[in-house]
Amino acid sequence: MPLPTLSFAKSASLDEGVAVVLLAEGVEFGPDLVSIDAATGGTVTRAIAKAGFKPKLLSSLDILAPNGCGLDRILVMGLGVPGDLKARDWARIGGSIQGKLAEFKAKTATIFANWGQADAPTASDIAEIAFGTLLRGFKFDVYKTKKKDDEADGKSLKITIVTETFAAAKKVFAAKKALADGVNLARELVIEPPNVLYPEAFADRARKLEKLGVEIDILGEKELKKLGFGALLGVSQGSARPPRVVIFRWNGAKSKNQQPIAFIGKGVTFDTGGISIKPAAGMEDMKGDMAGAACVTGLMHALAARKAPVNAIGAIGLVENMPDGNAQRPGDIVTSLSGQTIEIINTDAEGRLVLADVVWYVQQTYKPKFMIDLATLTGAILVALGKTYAGLFSTSDELAAQLSQAGEATGELVWRMPLAAEYDKMIDSQFADMKNTGGRFGGSITAAHFIKRFTNDVPWVHLDIAGTGMDSTQTETNRLWASGWGVRLLDKLVQDNYES
Ligand code: BES
Ligand code: MN
Ligand code: ZN
Repeated sequence: MPLPTLSFAKSASLDEGVAVVLLAEGVEFGPDLVSIDAATGGTVTRAIAKAGFKPKLLSSLDILAPNGCGLDRILVMGLGVPGDLKARDWARIGGSIQGKLAEFKAKTATIFANWGQADAPTASDIAEIAFGTLLRGFKFDVYKTKKKDDEADGKSLKITIVTETFAAAKKVFAAKKALADGVNLARELVIEPPNVLYPEAFADRARKLEKLGVEIDILGEKELKKLGFGALLGVSQGSARPPRVVIFRWNGAKSKNQQPIAFIGKGVTFDTGGISIKPAAGMEDMKGDMAGAACVTGLMHALAARKAPVNAIGAIGLVENMPDGNAQRPGDIVTSLSGQTIEIINTDAEGRLVLADVVWYVQQTYKPKFMIDLATLTGAILVALGKTYAGLFSTSDELAAQLSQAGEATGELVWRMPLAAEYDKMIDSQFADMKNTGGRFGGSITAAHFIKRFTNDVPWVHLDIAGTGMDSTQTETNRLWASGWGVRLLDKLVQDNYES
């Protein structure tokens, strides 16, 4: 089923589909609930009493075939105690509503948001509810040849949101729609199988952002060789699929000359580990080892689609890490684009090699205000932080603080990890300038230090998303393994701090 289509209105009738009404704890019925209750001869009041329903956050009460109106159902959606609601909860509420509507196989629904309380949702809270329905509504079934009965008609769910602030909500929603499309694009790229989404194919999809006004440059193998991307090419050399580096340029700022901000993503379209091959169990998940690149692509989509007034560079390094007669060996020494040499200890520590060259290239070419890289970089970050927080490493306290705030607001949480000379020393090599692993201890930190050696002191953040980028945790806004993690976080960072 396609995503729901959303519209906003000042009022709506009660003659078809599902009516969704919001109810908070310890708060009287708002005007919408009062009128729906009256139209149905007090059905809502009776149902709430009989069910002993407490409107805790994300709990709901489903009332079937109410008398006195043409509605199929009334869904009372709990908000919990109004004072406890966080900004990030509104999208979760929207996601919950979408989940219920899908379960009901609803074709039309009206969300009544006029609940008339002092701390009633703002236009932006309401747009967030709509945003949540789009995140939860995302499906990936392009490879299913048999459609389920309820999907066969292909009709999408139409949701109308009724609110006093409908005009303002509609306006805020336009930007949220752009963001939801960006998140869902990232998810799609992560889920696509690695036989379909190899470096060249990924670059072709990235090219589609041109339609939104993003300028795209694609560097092929020949150019990368000529430029000297030795670290990236070493990873790629065992694969039958040639590498690509894609550069996105979005010039949305008032001044074309405004210094850009830059986002860089690890795009290993499949990571076997190479000659240091991974065990078989769970290896299929390594099709998602390009979640960083997917996030950058989704973010550039969102920024361009909402015409964000900022100059932003996106850069993704796309390779496949395969074992082969021509593959890189442990013991090899490669020369990176920066000129620094790297001794390969473990060919499975490939993400940092890709990032080393792309990060160096971006700071040399675009002189950005800052660089943020995202990478499914280390299993060690899963050991440290699980799947709830992404690991954040930064040379800028200001950026770290801004990201931490954006994380709290969006629910894409980040936890700052240390950088220190003692860890940096662990990647010194006896035979080259550095080695690509630092041993078992502090694995995420030494990986971050490796990338840091290629930042040339440009303010920098590294986000290790190995835990959050691929995540089967069932949430209100995501039921699939690919979370699209980081698109919301970085869009919020830009919106709150870097728009002209
Ligand atoms: N892509 C992996 C990291 C990863 C692991 C992502 C689990 C998502 C889930 C990365 O390329 C890798 O293999 N890292 C190694 C580094 C080690 C060889 C120093 C790891 O974490 O084991
Ligand atoms: Mn690896
Ligand atoms: Zn990897």
